[in-house]
Parts: sequence; structure tokens; C-alpha cells
Amino acid sequence: MSSKLEQRMRSSVLGAFTAAALFVSTGFVETTPAYAKTDTQPAVLTASAVAVADKYAAATAEQIFKQGGNAVDAAVSIAFTLAVTYPEAGNIGGGGFMTLYVDHRPYFLDYRERAPLTATKNMYLDDKGEVIKGMSLYGHRAVGVPGTVAGMWEAQKRFGKLKWRQVLAPAIAYAQNGFEVDDQLQDRRDKASKEFAGKTNFDLYFGSMKQGAVFKQPDLAATLQRVADNGAKGFYEGRTAELIATSMKGHGLITERDLKEYKAVWRQPILASWNGYRIITAPPPSSGGIGLVQLLKMKADLKDKFANVPLDSAQYIHLVAEIEKRVFADRAQYLGDPDFYKVPVAQLTNDDYILKRSQEVNPETPSDTKSVQPGLGTTMPEKAETTHYSVVDKWGNAVSNTYTINGYFGSGVVAEGTGVVLNDEMDDFSSKPGVANMFGVVGSDANAIAPKKRPLSSMTPTILTKDDKVAMVIGTPGGSRIFTSIFQVLSNVYDFSMPLPEAVGATRFHHQLLPPNTIYQEPYHALDPEVVKALEAKGYTFTMQGFNGDIQAIRIDGDTPEPMSDPRGRGVSRVIQ
Ligand code: GLY
Repeated sequence: MSSKLEQRMRSSVLGAFTAAALFVSTGFVETTPAYAKTDTQPAVLTASAVAVADKYAAATAEQIFKQGGNAVDAAVSIAFTLAVTYPEAGNIGGGGFMTLYVDHRPYFLDYRERAPLTATKNMYLDDKGEVIKGMSLYGHRAVGVPGTVAGMWEAQKRFGKLKWRQVLAPAIAYAQNGFEVDDQLQDRRDKASKEFAGKTNFDLYFGSMKQGAVFKQPDLAATLQRVADNGAKGFYEGRTAELIATSMKGHGLITERDLKEYKAVWRQPILASWNGYRIITAPPPSSGGIGLVQLLKMKADLKDKFANVPLDSAQYIHLVAEIEKRVFADRAQYLGDPDFYKVPVAQLTNDDYILKRSQEVNPETPSDTKSVQPGLGTTMPEKAETTHYSVVDKWGNAVSNTYTINGYFGSGVVAEGTGVVLNDEMDDFSSKPGVANMFGVVGSDANAIAPKKRPLSSMTPTILTKDDKVAMVIGTPGGSRIFTSIFQVLSNVYDFSMPLPEAVGATRFHHQLLPPNTIYQEPYHALDPEVVKALEAKGYTFTMQGFNGDIQAIRIDGDTPEPMSDPRGRGVSRVIQ
């Protein structure tokens, strides 16, 4: 085990709590949320626990649990905190997915961004029909209508136990009083500043950020205060909406009407049985839940071929790449926003269909890429950033939340006067069917742009239960690497019986149909050179990638939660009594 991993394990579980967040009194009067079931629930775990992207979010969770909040209160409070302290991916200017297990029932909340009302299928094409480079990635036209505040409002209203302003308070305090900037954030800021130079107003807001110094965001504090005072309307109507719409005027498409009409949606999660567990995961417009279920089940179907094959050996990587090839072929063809396109979810997760696909795997050599057509009858890129956190409370409820502004610092646009970093989620649509997005993934018409439509995502917040009790809460950023990363960690834990810290820290690799026979590996844990050589002899090409996820997971064995934050990031996990 690397010393970095050992260090991370020590600090993640034992890290000292520094209560940097202070409460802000506003005098706003509100009612307790309708759902406060945890008042009558007996504690079933020895403690609550979180695995989150930074230490400030962990402190927030501790504060919320100590006030008697449940997993949903903590999750909502973490989301607002990360919007301040993890501004490269935490957000209120983006969107995401929340998978919940509350009172032994599964739920899924879709608060993904939507295309503006005046968006059109060809809005990123020039008059020759070619994609205009960068237009869906930088600046105002890249921005989808944000969903995070609506999502948090929905979740907290339905399941939270604390008052709304209580869950906003830690974030407001961090925005007003500031927080200390660490080296990873500084590094990401520096890169973003170069990327956005001359294109957006990024430096106006983030130019003064310095490692080791306290960074304050008064505009964002005022926006969060409006949300604390007025609920979701504090973002989608009134002053905040006015400021966002004004900043868009003459540059982008989002209007006050776009904001007012935004709605988060409760959807039926993907439910599947695997290895004695029930998987609860993300349905469309995520491709991730279907992808994860297909990966896990195909591997189980191929148990004879995987028998005695050592983890991360050449044969193991070849078999996994063969499975991944088929999953990505389906992803490109069949997946999009279910409100606009009939996604064949039942067929794609059907056991017989998955078995048939697994039988196409060639155990000797890579299947010809062109021959791996979508199985019911092309692939798409995405940004690898995003952030995830996992939460369980002592009453046995769990939240798995992944949210994003797409690339680090989204479109690079901060809506003037709000401090809100706006997303570049429009890049997750296929601007032109057959042309790869920033993750190198290709899309079909299922994911073409239309007003109010949500772009296809890979975010895969996932919960596993056994005998109606939470056994694992897991997720990660990583664009198209999200579900291949989660798949590898679950496989490490349940197929290879690895302790959670090792399973999360172990090497990860990724294949996604295109580019042909290319396997991405990571510098954090490079693959064995002999294994690489053997696979190159089979026809594979290897590419090093800078980032392969930031898993935040909690495993529950018996009645004790064990959280683990990926040693690749600045995440912190904590058990909270
Ligand atoms: N923007 C990354 C994702 O939605 O998967």
C-alpha cells in the first residue's frame, strides 16, 4: 500500500474536526419539513458517516448530524458547502443526480441541467454543418439551465428533518468568512485561468485566489442568503434570476423564464440484483446506471472465463475491455433524456440480453471495434471532472449524490453579481451525431439538443442494499470513466474480497469502444509494464490519463459504517457519533 494511501486512511477516519463554519441568524421564519420520519426511527447503526470531496464538507456534515439532521439534511448542506469550498466542481450553477434510500425505500432525484427554451439542435454547428470548436465548452452559450438548487430544495423538503436555513448556514459562513485554499484547488484554478483567458470573466472572481490564503465570496454569500430566505425561489426568481438573466443578455440563451420553468424530477431508479445485493442506481438521462449493471452482470455471466484470472493481469484487462466495448456501443446508440426519447431501459438491463452480449466476448483477442454494434439492433466524450459524496445516517438512511458543472469551473462564466459559476453542460449533448464530445464519446439522435431537454450523463450515484439494509454507498466523478471506476471498486470489494481502502486505492483502467482498442491507465497507479507489453502484443494501445476518478464510498458491514475517500483527491471521510 502506498504511503500516501496509508496517510489518507489515517486522516480520513481519524481527522480532527475543526468547526470552521458558523451559524448565521437571519430571522427568517419557516416551518419544519413535512417528512421527519427519523424522529420515530430507532438508530440501527453505531454512527453516521460521510465520504466527501473536502474537509469543509466533512465539517459541515458533522455540524448537521450534531444538530439532529439526517442523511438528507447532511447531503443538502454538503452540496451548498462544496459550491463554496470546492468551486471547481461543487456548485449551485450546475446539476446532478441524487440516489436515496430512506426508510427502506429507494428514490432517485434528477436535477440535471436543461437546455434553454431557445436552444436548437444545430446551435453549435457552422453554416457548413461543422461543429464550432469550444462553443459548447466555454462562455455563456455553453450553459444549461442550472438544477442544483431545485434538486436540493426538493430533497430537503421531502425528507429533511432540519429547517432549510439550518442546512444553508454552513455554506453561507464559508462564503462570508472565507476558507483556506489548498494546493489542489490552486492548481486547478491556475489551469482554468489559462484555459478561460480572454474568453470569460473567470479571473475577475477567482484571480485573487491564493494557496494558503483565506478566500471570501461575498456575492455568493448574498446569493446563498437569498436561497436560505426564499427557498428555491431565491435562485429561480427575484434578484438572483434577474442577475443571471442580465449576465446572459447578448451572450447566452438563458432568460428569467428558463429559470422560472426549471423543475427537478423524481424518477424510478434502476434496480437490479447482483451477487446477493440489490443495486439502486441512476436511470436515464444518466447512462451510468445501465452501464454499471451491464458491466457487473456481464462479468458475473463470464465467471468461467474470469475464474483464476488474477486482478489486473493481461487476461483480466482484456476481458474487462471486451465487456466495456459492448456497454459503450449501447450507450452511444440508445441513451438520452427519457422525457424526449424512449430509452429501452428494461431491454438493456434484461438478464437474457446481457447474457447474450457477454457471449459475444472474444476471450483471446480484441473484437474488431466496427463489429461491436449496439446490441439491440457509435460512442460520445464528456468532461472528467464533477464531484461525488456519500452519506449514511445512524437511522440507516443513505444518500449518494453526484453533481457537476461539467469541466472544472464549468463554462468559466461567473454570473455577474451572484458569485455563481455556470456550467458547460451543453457539451454533454451530441452537437452533431457521430462527433465525439470532450470525453471522446460519440452520440446519436437520442441525445440531440432540444429545448428543456437534459443532456446525457454518466453520473452514477449508487447504493447497494442487502436484506433491506444499506451495504454500500458509492460514486465518483470521471465523465465516461464514472461507471467503469465504480464497477472496478465493487468488483475489488465483492469479487476479490479486498478491504474498502485497498479496493478504492487500487489501480483503475478504462476502455470505451473508441478510440479503437485503447486502454487508459493512470499515473497514480500505472499498470505492470509486463502486462502492458502482453496487451500491446494483442493489439491494444495504452494512453496515460491524468485523472481516473475520486471515489467516495461507505461500506456497512453489520452495524458499523466504514467510509473511504479516494487517495487520488482531497476528500475526507468521517465517522460521526
Ligand atoms: N458532465 C459529466 C457527466 O454528466 O457525466
